Amino acid sequence: MNCPDFSTWYAERVRHVETVLEGFMPDSSVVPARLHEAMRYAVLGGGKRIRAALVYAAGEACAPTGKTLASAQNIALDHAAAAVELIHAYSLVHDDLPCMDDDDLRRGRPTVHVQFDEATAMLAGDALQPLAFELLAQMPIAPALVVQAVEMLARCAGSLGMAGGQAIDCASTGLSLDQEQLQAMHAMKTGAMLEASILLGGIVAGASSPARQGLEAYADAVGLAFQIADDVLDVVADTATLGKTAGKDAAANKPTYVSLLGLDASRQLLQELRQEAHNALLPLGPAGTRLAEIADYIVGRSR
Ligand code: IPE
Ligand code: IPE
Ligand code: MG
Ligand code: MG
Ligand code: MG
Repeated sequence: MNCPDFSTWYAERVRHVETVLEGFMPDSSVVPARLHEAMRYAVLGGGKRIRAALVYAAGEACAPTGKTLASAQNIALDHAAAAVELIHAYSLVHDDLPCMDDDDLRRGRPTVHVQFDEATAMLAGDALQPLAFELLAQMPIAPALVVQAVEMLARCAGSLGMAGGQAIDCASTGLSLDQEQLQAMHAMKTGAMLEASILLGGIVAGASSPARQGLEAYADAVGLAFQIADDVLDVVADTATLGKTAGKDAAANKPTYVSLLGLDASRQLLQELRQEAHNALLPLGPAGTRLAEIADYIVGRSR
C-alpha cells in the first residue's frame, strides 16, 4: 500500500478538504449574498484543518483489516470532515466577537465581524451550524450510522460540549480555576470538537467496539493537548505565525494552563498527553499510525 509520510499526507488532506468545503458552501451571488459571502469568508480562509484530518485518519484507522474504505464511506468522510470544520469555523466567528474574546485578527485576516459587521458575523455562525448537520444527514451510509453521527456531533457542539465550554470560559475570565476546573473547561470548549471529529471517522468506517474505546481514550488526550498547546502558543508564538493576536490570554486575564502551571509544566504535560494518546491507540495496531502522528503534530505544532 502506498503510504506517504505524515506531512505529505496532511498537506494532501488539507488540499482535499478545501475543495470539498468549497463545493458545499453557498454561492456568494445567491441571496442573501452578504450572509453567504461572510460564511464563505469564515470557512474558506485557511486554518490548519486538524479536525478534518482527524476525521480522515480515524476513518482510515478503522477500515476493516487489509481493506480500504468503500467509495460511499469516503464520500461520507468528506461530509463529516466538512461538517466539523463548519462547526469549528462558526465557533471561531462567535469566539472572536466583541462580546466574547473581542479579536480583530483570525487566520491572518480581519475577523468576520470586522470585515463585515457584528450582526452578519453572528448570523454567519448561526447559518454554518445547521449546514453542518445537513451535510451529516446527507451521508450515503446506513441510516442508523447517520443518526449516531448527528447525535454525537450535536452533543459535542452543544451545552455539554463546545458551547458549554465557551460559556464557562466567558464566566471564568478574571478568575483563577484549579487544574480540575481548567481541564474540564478545556475538554468541553476544545476537546469535544476534536472528539467529535475522531468518533465521526470511526462511525463512518464502522469501527469495532474496542477500536471505538481506543478512539475515545485517544480523543481525551489529544483534545486536552490541543488546547494546552493553544495556551502555550498564545505566550510563546508571534502574531504573524499564529495569524491571530498573540498574548491575548494574559491581556484578557484568562485562566490557562500557562497561567496556572507555567510554561515548563504545561510542556511537560503535553508530552505526557502525547504518550497517553499513543497508548490509547494500541488496540488499533499499525492502523493507528496516522493518528499517532497527528498526536505528535498537535503537541509539537508551532501555530
Ligand atoms: C483555534 O483552533 C481555536 C481552538 C479551539 C484552540 P485551531 O488552532 O484549530 O484554528 P484553525 O482552524 O487552525 O484556524
Ligand atoms: C476557543 O479557544 C475555543 C473555541 C471553541 C473556538 P480560544 O479563545 O483560546 O481560541 P483562540 O485562541 O481565539 O483561537
Ligand atoms: Mg475564547
Ligand atoms: Mg479566542
Ligand atoms: Mg487561544
